[in-house]
Amino acid sequence: MNDSFTSGDDIDAVRRIALADIPDGGAVAARLPSSTGGFDVILVRVGERVLGYHNECPHAGRRLDWAPGRFIVDKGHLVCAAHGAMFKLDSGFCTSGPCMGNGLVPVALNIDGDAVVLAQ
Ligand code: FES
Repeated sequence: MNDSFTSGDDIDAVRRIALADIPDGGAVAARLPSSTGGFDVILVRVGERVLGYHNECPHAGRRLDWAPGRFIVDKGHLVCAAHGAMFKLDSGFCTSGPCMGNGLVPVALNIDGDAVVLAQ
C-alpha cells in the first residue's frame, strides 16, 4: 500500500462530468466547488448507476486515492490507499479494514443526459 499523502490540488472544481469519463466499475476524483475552496469527492460507476462520496476515509480522514484521482478498485470495492479499508462501490459501506461497519459519506448528484451533475 502507498501511504503517501495526496492533496488533489491539481483536480479542477467542476459540477458536470461526462459519464464517458467514469469507467464502469471504476472511480474518478472530482472537486465540488464551494466558497471555501471546494470538496473533494469520488464518483464511482456501477453499470448505469453513478454514486458520489466525499473523498475522506472514516478511519483516519485521509483521501482514498493513492495519487490525485487514482484509486484502487478490487472486486467491486474501493480500497483506501492509506490502510486498506474496503468500501462497496454501490453503497460506500466498509466491509473490511480498520473502519469496518462505517461508510463513506454520500454526495448528492443527478444524471443529466450524458453527464453527471454534482449537487450542493
Ligand atoms: S485512512 Fe483509510 S484505512 Fe486508514
